[in-house]
Amino acid sequence: MIELIDLKVHGDFRGSLVSIEAMKSVPFDIKRVYYIFGNTEDVKRGCHAHRELKQFAICVSGSCKMMLDNGREKRTFELNHPSKGLLITSLVWREMFDFTPDCVLLVLANTQYDENDYIRTYELFLKEIEK
Ligand code: TYD
Repeated sequence: MIELIDLKVHGDFRGSLVSIEAMKSVPFDIKRVYYIFGNTEDVKRGCHAHRELKQFAICVSGSCKMMLDNGREKRTFELNHPSKGLLITSLVWREMFDFTPDCVLLVLANTQYDENDYIRTYELFLKEIEK
């Protein structure tokens, strides 16, 4: 499942605040948080899928694009606001690109880091989704 979610922004004259709660704003328990920043211009990241992992990605600064491919259709999303989150469930191939220099991509995940959960080639990804 791939879903672009509008997060509620609590704002007043001081500025804005977004809160993300496990099992409410995101449909999973959050076991890990990581963020990607300081990307080299024109770089592509990701280029893998996960067997089990569910993630929720928010661009908290700047912008980037994320191409998601479930083996049947490819969709490219622009993440350009801290109130937009992209829910990515398992078995989705992802590629991130067009990072602005100020881009900080925050990712919430439902498991700890596990290299065995990665599908690192597109050929293997197509085989896994046929199972
Ligand atoms: P990598 O998977 O190449 O990042 P991306 O998906 O953006 O292309 O990860 C970069 C490095 O960080 C790699 O050595 C693995 C490590 N890493 C962790 O140690 N923990 C994590 O939670 C993640 C996502 C990566």
